[in-house]
Amino acid sequence: METKRLTKKDVVQAAEVIASGGLLGIPTETVYGLGADGLNTEAVHAIFAAKGRPQDNPLILHIPSADWLERYCEDIPATAYALTERFWPGPLTIILKRRPLVPDTVTAGLETVGMRCPDCGVTRRVIEAADTPIAAPSGNTSGRPSPTNAAAMLEDMDGKIDAILDDGPCAVGVESTIIDLTVSPPRLLRPGGVTLEELREVLGEVAVDAAVRRLMAPGEQPRAPGMKYRHYAPKAPVTVVKGAPEATAAYIMENKGPQSGVICFDEYRGRFGSAPVEAIGPVVDHAQQARRIFEALRTFDRMDVTDIWTQSPTDEGLGLAVTNRLNKAAGFHIIEL
Ligand code: TXA
Ligand code: MG
Repeated sequence: METKRLTKKDVVQAAEVIASGGLLGIPTETVYGLGADGLNTEAVHAIFAAKGRPQDNPLILHIPSADWLERYCEDIPATAYALTERFWPGPLTIILKRRPLVPDTVTAGLETVGMRCPDCGVTRRVIEAADTPIAAPSGNTSGRPSPTNAAAMLEDMDGKIDAILDDGPCAVGVESTIIDLTVSPPRLLRPGGVTLEELREVLGEVAVDAAVRRLMAPGEQPRAPGMKYRHYAPKAPVTVVKGAPEATAAYIMENKGPQSGVICFDEYRGRFGSAPVEAIGPVVDHAQQARRIFEALRTFDRMDVTDIWTQSPTDEGLGLAVTNRLNKAAGFHIIEL
């Protein structure tokens, strides 16, 4: 099929793609998504097919405001509204008990559903015009780094989706934070654009799912099924080097091969001779690192590097989401100095 290029003037056409059961690339503030009518089982099946996504990995539903929560969820705790008031529209997905009308294909048979209101006006207008929630995973082929601009999504999806709505590069660059409110205390399933520190300001105690920080053992089930898969991975193997930036830069310089790619902080970009280098932002600027990380990984997929070595930020603030994506891209192959 020919994938149509739409822009923000084309809300009506984009809504028509959704309403007619098609696949639409949607911009959000986090990453581009692969959207379809979340109440149309066949359309949702087509998402899994286009991505090559395992059937046991549920999708999240995108809605234009917290007013829509009750249509799809029940037993909604007060904490849900405390979160939506502070963080919506924005990069936070809330796991709640689902109503029966939410298709099993969306939730992969779970009794819960992830709900998100993206901070992207054009996408919220498309959802409103189609008058249905948009189910959307990240717009990459399963396992690859997520797309943070329309061109990156088209690398994976050109010819496989009906249209893509281009609204420029994503402002956050890593996916939404996922918080499960169906357990007590609430549990962080995936770090993302809203930080753990911010969640604790609203919720008090928040548990952190083990899958956030380490590889799941065979047979071990994380609460977010997607967290068990190899993910965000470029073609070349990745090694994460953790420690003080001076030390990690020196370690990478000593250990990388002649055809290695390097991901580093801006301050160190001159240290690696003629190696291809992707600088993802200053040491202290976690927001910049979040915006650039997936594009850095994708850049190395467009080159012939044998392997990739990367510095790693601290776990504070957005740093937790950046380190999580790097660790997963590396299959948790981490060297601690
Ligand atoms: O920022 C985002 O969240 C992007 C944009 C497009 O909105 N979407 C996104 O979707 O990252 P996806 O499918 O790539 O990641 C969703 C994650 C998966 O790990 C999935 O297993 C988990 O959310 N998830 C979805 N529904 C769940 C549920 N009911 N319980 C636990 N985890 C769930
Ligand atoms: Mg994804």
